[in-house]
Amino acid sequence: MDEHVRKSVPRHVAIIMDGNGRWAAARGLPRVAGHREGVKSVRRTVEAAIEQGVRYLTLFAFSSENWQRPPSEVADLTFLLKHFLRSELNELHVQGVRLKIIGERDRFGEQIAAELAAAELKTSGNSRLTLVMALSYGGRADIVEAARRAIATGMAPEALTEQHFSALLSTDAIPDPDLLIRTSGEERISNFLLWQTAYSELLFTDVLWPDFGAADFAHAVEEFATRERRFGARPV
Ligand code: FPP
Repeated sequence: MDEHVRKSVPRHVAIIMDGNGRWAAARGLPRVAGHREGVKSVRRTVEAAIEQGVRYLTLFAFSSENWQRPPSEVADLTFLLKHFLRSELNELHVQGVRLKIIGERDRFGEQIAAELAAAELKTSGNSRLTLVMALSYGGRADIVEAARRAIATGMAPEALTEQHFSALLSTDAIPDPDLLIRTSGEERISNFLLWQTAYSELLFTDVLWPDFGAADFAHAVEEFATRERRFGARPV
């Protein structure tokens, strides 16, 4: 039996990292302080995922709607992304992490897009954990893009299957998330992996992202193990 079925460890965990701003506001700090702490949570969560035997971790680091935030906050988030890449890449590589980016990376500028591509290439042979970073990502845009690709092949409409369509999404070759976590008490999908989370277990926690740690991750994995997944079917 597949290890992940037997032990009920989610193979793929996706996270909407929310609450950085509220964490900072509660301390009278600027929002960027919350984002900075949020980066530390990213580090902890990657380690926790490896520890728990999770094979795919997808983090919603920047949504396509986040461009509408004040330019200074966009600049702070872009800076943190660049800094994260430069300071963490080697360690991620040593830990056996394969990095994959989904979303419109070009919107961050040529230099960051090139660094992201280089990071993907450098870590492409790793297999312990695939860390998918959703950057300038939107679930609807992903679906529209896949539809465009399907049309561009010139295929007959009736030849398009769900399986084929999945392979045209940016998450091609990545299994659908088993567990979707959102922090900070909000209970929304917010245009994240719309197609891919059709059968994901959803877990909402009040913990703000900067406070999220290994114990919270372990707790979420335990909670997942108690859920009965039927994928729409009824047990016989
Ligand atoms: C939500 O907090 C979080 C984000 C907008 C993005 C998440 C970003 C990070 C964790 C830091 C950057 C990460 C990397 C790897 C570079 P919010 O600002 O919406 O919080 P609020 O709802 O409390 O205001």
